[in-house]
Amino acid sequence: MDDNLLQIQRGERFAFGRNWNAFADLVDEGRVHTATGSLRTALGVEDLAGRTFLDVGCGSGLFSLAAHRLGARVRSFDADAEAVESAARLRRTFAPGAAWTIEQGSILDGGYLAGLGAFDVVYAWGVLHHTGAMWRAFDASAGLVAPGGVLFTALYNDQGGESRVWTAVKRRYNRSGPLVRGALIAASAAYIHRSWPLVGLGRLLTGGSRPASPRARGMSRWHDMLDWVGGYPFEVSKPEQVIARARARGLDLLYLKTCGGGLGCNEYVLRRPIGSAGAREGAETAGDLAYLGGPRPQTPQGHPR
Ligand SMILES: C[S@@+](CC[C@H](N)C(=O)[O-])C[C@H]1O[C@@H](n2cnc3c(N)ncnc32)[C@H](O)[C@@H]1O
Repeated sequence: MDDNLLQIQRGERFAFGRNWNAFADLVDEGRVHTATGSLRTALGVEDLAGRTFLDVGCGSGLFSLAAHRLGARVRSFDADAEAVESAARLRRTFAPGAAWTIEQGSILDGGYLAGLGAFDVVYAWGVLHHTGAMWRAFDASAGLVAPGGVLFTALYNDQGGESRVWTAVKRRYNRSGPLVRGALIAASAAYIHRSWPLVGLGRLLTGGSRPASPRARGMSRWHDMLDWVGGYPFEVSKPEQVIARARARGLDLLYLKTCGGGLGCNEYVLRRPIGSAGAREGAETAGDLAYLGGPRPQTPQGHPR
């Protein structure tokens, strides 16, 4: 039995792959289109033609599919066999015969990573904080970025005491039976959406638009809620820690979207300048990703902590 499955059975890890496999049933051209748009926006590109794209912790495989649609040569891996199955299902349905490799592997497995090479885009959205060794996983991902390429990652925001409460909730969820799990999901959903009546009233009065939702990436509210409440192991970080760590690994900040100091992920696009040290030997690159369409540089926004 593989290590990931053993941890799930011991209640030490959320069954991410099972959740993604269920989500994959909902994937349609509309969600693929939305996911493709979210990649384009964050990377500041029109397409990824001729680029290599590594999807670290690919989950459902939706973003690998989006990268393929943008013209990239895609390699995807996930530690969870069911996630690998889900991505393979999306490839069969939406991209048969695509230049897209999918396999089971861990970002913490040095032996596996040694055979990968380097990539124009290393995509690790919502993954590194679920490995059980976030900074080691971050360093490993950074090491896979080719000169001129980028690491696009999203990491849970450190909310101090509140993050510690969520850690306890998630740990409990994975060690419990269906009844306690159901109660934890209901209570968490009520807490997270406690401001909805007020927001709804505000929208009614001002005619304002909907707030950003998981649908902005083509995801589903229900599966994202399960992933949030169950998502364990769980670690958090502050933007200043991530930016400093990236600099130490030879990556510059190109794009930052924070969750405003609240609950959720901060998104980072971090670039390895051409000619810099820190990339793998023999790294292949199609050139500076920034030349493709012009990234959208952003200054770090204020962070309450
Ligand atoms: C929250 S999901 C994110 C999935 C996908 N990146 C997305 O944006 O939808 C986290 C994924 O990371 C995977 N994962 C956790 N630890 C991992 C590891 N050490 N190596 C590779 N994948 C891992 C999980 O199995 C899960 O599919």
